[in-house]
Amino acid sequence: MRKTVAAVALASAAILALGGHIQPAQAQQSAAQPWMNARLDPERRVALILPQMTRDEKLTLVFGYFATDFPIKRFKAPDGARNGSAGYVPGIPRLGIPAQWQADAGIGVASQPGPARRERTALPSGLATAATWNPQLAFKAGGMVGEEARASGFNVMLAGGVNLIREPRNGRNFEYGGEDPLLAGTMVGAHTAGIQAHHIISTLKHFAVNDQETDRNAGNAVIDPVAARMSDLLAFQIAIEKADPGSIMCAYNRVNGPFACEHPWLLTQVLRSDWGFKGYVMSDWGGTHSTAPAIAAGLDQESGFPFDQRAYFGADFKSALESGAASEKALDQMVARILYAMFRHGLFDHPITDVLGDLPPALRARSTATSQSDAEEAIVLLQNRGAILPLTPAIKRVAVIGGHADKGVLSGGGASSVYQKGGNAVPGLRPQTWPGPVVYYRSSPVEAIRRQAPNAEIVFVDGADPAAAEPAARQADVAIVFATQWAGESFDVSLTLTDNQDALISRVAAANPRTVVVLETGGPVLTPWADKVGAIVAAWYPGSAGGEAIANILYGHVNPSGHLPVTFPRSLDQLPRPSAPAKGDIMYSEGAAVGYKWFDKRNENPAFPFGHGLSYTRFAYSGLTARAAKGTVTATFIVRNVGKRRGKAVPQIYVAGGGWEAPKRLGAFEKVDLAAGQSKRVTLAMDPRLLAMFDATTNSWRIRAGTYRVMLATSSRETLQTVPVTLPAQALKVGWRPGS
Ligand code: BGC
Repeated sequence: MRKTVAAVALASAAILALGGHIQPAQAQQSAAQPWMNARLDPERRVALILPQMTRDEKLTLVFGYFATDFPIKRFKAPDGARNGSAGYVPGIPRLGIPAQWQADAGIGVASQPGPARRERTALPSGLATAATWNPQLAFKAGGMVGEEARASGFNVMLAGGVNLIREPRNGRNFEYGGEDPLLAGTMVGAHTAGIQAHHIISTLKHFAVNDQETDRNAGNAVIDPVAARMSDLLAFQIAIEKADPGSIMCAYNRVNGPFACEHPWLLTQVLRSDWGFKGYVMSDWGGTHSTAPAIAAGLDQESGFPFDQRAYFGADFKSALESGAASEKALDQMVARILYAMFRHGLFDHPITDVLGDLPPALRARSTATSQSDAEEAIVLLQNRGAILPLTPAIKRVAVIGGHADKGVLSGGGASSVYQKGGNAVPGLRPQTWPGPVVYYRSSPVEAIRRQAPNAEIVFVDGADPAAAEPAARQADVAIVFATQWAGESFDVSLTLTDNQDALISRVAAANPRTVVVLETGGPVLTPWADKVGAIVAAWYPGSAGGEAIANILYGHVNPSGHLPVTFPRSLDQLPRPSAPAKGDIMYSEGAAVGYKWFDKRNENPAFPFGHGLSYTRFAYSGLTARAAKGTVTATFIVRNVGKRRGKAVPQIYVAGGGWEAPKRLGAFEKVDLAAGQSKRVTLAMDPRLLAMFDATTNSWRIRAGTYRVMLATSSRETLQTVPVTLPAQALKVGWRPGS
């Protein structure tokens, strides 16, 4: 199916400067519609178009429809919406304003469940991409989403989940970038920039402190605002700097009282006044709760209005204008921000021209290759006792147990769900309705293992009955258990593997010490059997080509280089909140001491620390020096591959300072690709905000004078070298950004 696109797109396309030359007909139209001139800056174009708009046209732009029929609400998606997607805001053809076609996009072009879903390529989960510690790869992965989005008729992508992992049981952790603001902000920012490189808008979301799903529509995140600046908000701030997103999606929850989508401090003070954000704020679907207060707080667009109690930015907004409860000036400002983002990110100048039902095979192949390379760098080798991995094709008998590994690989549930061509590899699992269905991508690890070891005998046992798995494990030369944890939107999970999988793993390990556990999980899980098994591989939700990626890691065609973006605890009592996520007030009393910072502060020993990841080669580090100039600390060191295989190292610089929320912070990192024997001198500059405390009284970042320790490490718990560096006192403006 290939539809011709709305007149608006053609009209806009017709006046594009072709090859740098404006054709005469186009010049005429440019004179009539001067905002169509791509050479003008976005602000100027907004100033030209806004006075041409009627009030109703302006109101059109601030009011978002759901783009899928919603029978319970007696809602039918309007004509012009891309059926099966998340949102739609009609365009204004008379003025050349394109419609906004919105789709979720955390791991690919998502669809709502149902008959109208699109079949697209799925990346590994967002958390998996963060585990690559490779921003270039995250950018490329975002580019895959952007390219498929354009081909599918979308120009506003609901990607960029950058909520910090404060709560390892959060059902949406798989959509996010981990527990550290620098890592999460950098990786999610790069992914979002990759999407927007295709001349479309992406969001960053869910602003802010939407760190659990329990009671997500009413729960109140209680957090010290200063601590928030140095944790959750810093992740957003860094991601915004990296991505320049067109839009920010405000969250469902409350933050210290008000709802995030009507929160003047978040939406106006922090986002706009302090950080200088110039795009627009859209609500999450069902996240708008009022008209005048939300407008006054800084919300610009109500999304998916059937999810809200009322059409707050629809008929209610019109009445509010008439009664004087809302002003024309506010409406102008909201529309100006939306149009600014649309001009800035190319929605006028690069209109959507394709709405493909099916994607061309060449695009699919390219996307699948990108997804696979993302997965291959994301998979973390957590443990490798006795160098049991990599396996060799000469191993004769391999027992593969559990996790539907004969069929495919698991993905997460909810709005970000991407449906792959060919359908669900394991249909019929529960829940089948939202946030389900539970989807397995058709990339069978067993088949991929067979291709790696064509002469081996590969036996698959489903693992439902641990006793039945035991003989297969005993008779095999190596047993590989696939353990899964399904997570998704709207619920939180248990860190204990369900369905007796811990017992299964223990039983298999007792039968065969050469046991490898492959985890397909949304985030961290408890690994009480770790001491009994040989190797543990965290494969996250590995995406459309996950089976191939896992087999390539197991057999050493790819050298593992993923590192944990999140701490794996040993037990729940190590967490800031050992009991299950609360309703009502959610007390984030750990403040900015999130994840490894909390573990460091409490001197808790995790099962696997943040930053950890093994390789099949060995790296040696030497010569760490650190110097300070103009408040920025630069660390230099040499990393050498002293093993026999090519591999990618992830050196991490942590800094320990005085008076922080925790003993140390991640200050910089890099992924370094090295052939066997090769070495490289690496120089990393640290963002000075990571050396500072936020000071609410002066609304600025303040670095205390003193001596700090700069540590070169391979995880938050494996420090190799430490050097001191002395810094003078320094203050940075709240809106300081690299290069400013
Ligand atoms: C989610 C958002 C998503 C939106 C649209 C909501 O349920 O929280 O992340 O973008 O739906 O699908």
